[in-house]
Amino acid sequence: MYNTLGPVLCFVFFIIIVKGAIIKKVSVDIGKNITIQCPLHKSKDIMWEREGRTADQNIMMNLLNNGSLFLQEVDKNDSAVYSCGRENDVTDIRARVNLTVRTPPSPLIVSIKPSTIIALILWEVNGTGGYPIINFTAQYRLAYNNSSWIPISPNHITPNSRQVEVFNLTPNTTYEFRIWATNQLGKSPVVNVFGTTKKQYPEQELARHLLEGADKFDTRWWAVAVGIVMGTLVLLGIGTCTLLYQECRVTTVEEEQEIIELVPNIILNPGFEGTSRNEPDENSNNEIPMRLNNNTTHNHADRRNNAKACNTF
Ligand SMILES: *[C@@H]1O[C@H](CO)[C@@H](O)[C@H](O)[C@H]1NC(C)=O
Ligand SMILES: *[C@@H]1O[C@H](CO)[C@@H](O)[C@H](O)[C@H]1NC(C)=O
Ligand SMILES: *[C@@H]1O[C@H](CO)[C@@H](O)[C@H](O)[C@H]1NC(C)=O
Ligand SMILES: *[C@@H]1O[C@H](CO)[C@@H](O)[C@H](O)[C@H]1NC(C)=O
Ligand SMILES: *[C@@H]1O[C@H](CO)[C@@H](O)[C@H](O)[C@H]1NC(C)=O
Ligand SMILES: *[C@@H]1O[C@H](CO)[C@@H](O)[C@H](O)[C@H]1NC(C)=O
Ligand SMILES: *[C@@H]1O[C@H](CO)[C@@H](O)[C@H](O)[C@H]1NC(C)=O
Ligand SMILES: *[C@@H]1O[C@H](CO)[C@@H](O)[C@H](O)[C@H]1NC(C)=O
Ligand SMILES: *[C@@H]1O[C@H](CO)[C@@H](O)[C@H](O)[C@H]1NC(C)=O
Repeated sequence: MYNTLGPVLCFVFFIIIVKGAIIKKVSVDIGKNITIQCPLHKSKDIMWEREGRTADQNIMMNLLNNGSLFLQEVDKNDSAVYSCGRENDVTDIRARVNLTVRTPPSPLIVSIKPSTIIALILWEVNGTGGYPIINFTAQYRLAYNNSSWIPISPNHITPNSRQVEVFNLTPNTTYEFRIWATNQLGKSPVVNVFGTTKKQYPEQELARHLLEGADKFDTRWWAVAVGIVMGTLVLLGIGTCTLLYQECRVTTVEEEQEIIELVPNIILNPGFEGTSRNEPDENSNNEIPMRLNNNTTHNHADRRNNAKACNTF
């Protein structure tokens, strides 16, 4: 099986090489004359045909005495693959020439995105024509009004641009925009597009517009919003608990130190206990120092209790 496959594959490759390798690329600018020489032979008895055409159409082709193909003032539709071979050649080995006619760029694919006072012109290039694009030109004017075209700055839109903004438009107004690309052979066909700027609502109307939206407001969104808020609260609660728990653990360690620091503060700061100690209050009760003392001891006890509570966590 492999013995037969090998030669077959070789033969297929041979045909691909013979038919595919000899394909010559030729480019010509639109409107020019071109003489194409058959790459295979230089004899007179050369037959040319254009691929994808019937024999009758091929007879119309203009052959020179020396076997070259002559195309006069080529048009875009002359772009094709032409093949040539010796007349009555049994081997039928042919050479192919891929002729490309260079043209001005193809029409751009344009869309307009108007807002109230600004419009965005967007475009795509659908074929440069064979030469790089030099620039784009865009203009606008009021629609349905024979006013003159207003250039859109920048006047020279660079070849890499694919959009340009038009400023200072009037809201709720229809404009006509036109744009074309230029390469070294000339301008592409001009594309005209209409666009209407959006209405600018006075404040009253704007409010009414917003309320209109409220009527159609879907209550399910409320449920979703409430759900989100509740979820956030629960998360916050969990976070706070975690933080408290961690703080508890820290205070049990630092507790002893803090108690020691508190006591000297009270001892070294007689003023801390206030002037009111020396001035008995209305009831002549000398309760304040007691209470202070109680408070400090109470604090210690509280902290211990806290620590105990934490330890039970
Ligand atoms: C193309 O060839 C035709 C006929 O041979 C001639 O009249 C014409 O001037 C040529 N055009 C150009 C651009 O060379
Ligand atoms: C064939 O003749 C044309 C003019 O008649 C000439 O331009 C061209 O170079 C010639 N081609 C060859 C292969 O001699
Ligand atoms: C090519 O297009 C032009 C018009 O653009 C037409 O006059 C001419 O007949 C076409 N040629 C062929 C071979 O189709
Ligand atoms: C001929 O050349 C053009 C442009 O380079 C290319 O797009 C096209 O695929 C080529 N055709 C063939 C059959 O090679
Ligand atoms: C792009 O150009 C090709 C041929 O040049 C054409 O058939 C096609 O419709 C164009 N595409 C658009 C979106 O205009
Ligand atoms: C065209 O526009 C000008 C100025 O904006 C305006 O005075 C004129 O009436 C318009 N003409 C038409 C036919 O709409
Ligand atoms: C615009 O001007 C052209 C001639 O310049 C005329 O034929 C056409 O009727 C005018 N259109 C309007 C709407 O004035
Ligand atoms: C675009 O380039 C062409 C060719 O260089 C030039 O004639 C034309 O004035 C340029 N257009 C703009 C708007 O700059
Ligand atoms: C927009 O323009 C249309 C007709 O040009 C007019 O009937 C409408 O009242 C305008 N709307 C606003 C909000 O200006």
